[in-house]
Formats: sequence, C-alpha cells, structure tokens
Amino acid sequence: MRSPLLLLAFALAAGAADQATIEKGQKEEQRTCLPCHSLRIVHSNRLSRAAWNRELDKMAGWGARYTNRDAILEYLVATYGDDKPVAPPEISADGRK
Ligand code: HEC
Repeated sequence: MRSPLLLLAFALAAGAADQATIEKGQKEEQRTCLPCHSLRIVHSNRLSRAAWNRELDKMAGWGARYTNRDAILEYLVATYGDDKPVAPPEISADGRK
C-alpha cells in the first residue's frame, strides 16, 4: 500500500512551491533586488512564470547576482503571478510596496 506521505511528496514536487522555498525567495529578493531599486517596481507586476523568468535573466544581464534563483522565481510566481489580482492603486501610486 502506498504511504500518504509519499503521495504528499509527489503532490508537492508536481505542484506549487512549498512555503519554505517561498520564504527563502523573499529573503533572496531583499538581498538581490533592493540594492538597485525599490520593490514597488517588482510588486506592482503580475507576470506569468515565463515572464518572471525573463525578468530574472534581464536583471542578471544588468548585474543581479543570485544565490538561489529557483527560490526567488518560485516566490515571485506564487506571490505576483498573473493569476493574482492586480496591485491595488495605492501600491502602484505612492511608492510604498
Ligand atoms: C544591477 C541592478 C539591478 C538589480 C540587482 C535588479 N534590478 Fe530590476 N531593474 C533594474 C533596472 C535598471 C530597471 C529599470 C528601472 C526603470 O525602468 O526605472 C529594473 C526594472 C525592473 C522591473 C520592471 C520591469 C522592467 O523589466 O523594466 C522589474 C519587474 C524588476 N526590475 C525586477 C527585479 C527583480 C525581481 C530583481 C531581484 C531578483 C531585480 N529586479 C534586481 C536593475 C536591477
């Protein structure tokens, strides 16, 4: 008989990123993105996985150096994916994230 834990592990591997990875990605964002610009420019976006991937490549081309690129990608897709509601106006209007 299959173990429920094994099934859970498969589900996690196939589906959404786990919470620990997302939290790592958020720390990575603070460390990697903030030296160049505020996070407003990041958090006002709602992008697909492919589009976030391209953004990360583009930022790397401009000098961003990642220690955990996978975690930051999972964090961005999970938090600012194109399936999420658009950023509220006060977030994109007054400079606060
Ligand atoms: C070496 C400097 C640098 C780093 C590090 C950096 N960026 Fe950027 N980023 C830029 C510049 C320059 C722009 C253009 C700013 C503008 O248009 O005012 C930009 C713009 C953006 C934009 C707006 C869309 C676009 O492509 O212009 C997004 C989204 C973005 N950055 C995401 C990120 C994320 C996420 C990180 C961290 C993983 C990051 N950036 C790290 C330099 C950087």
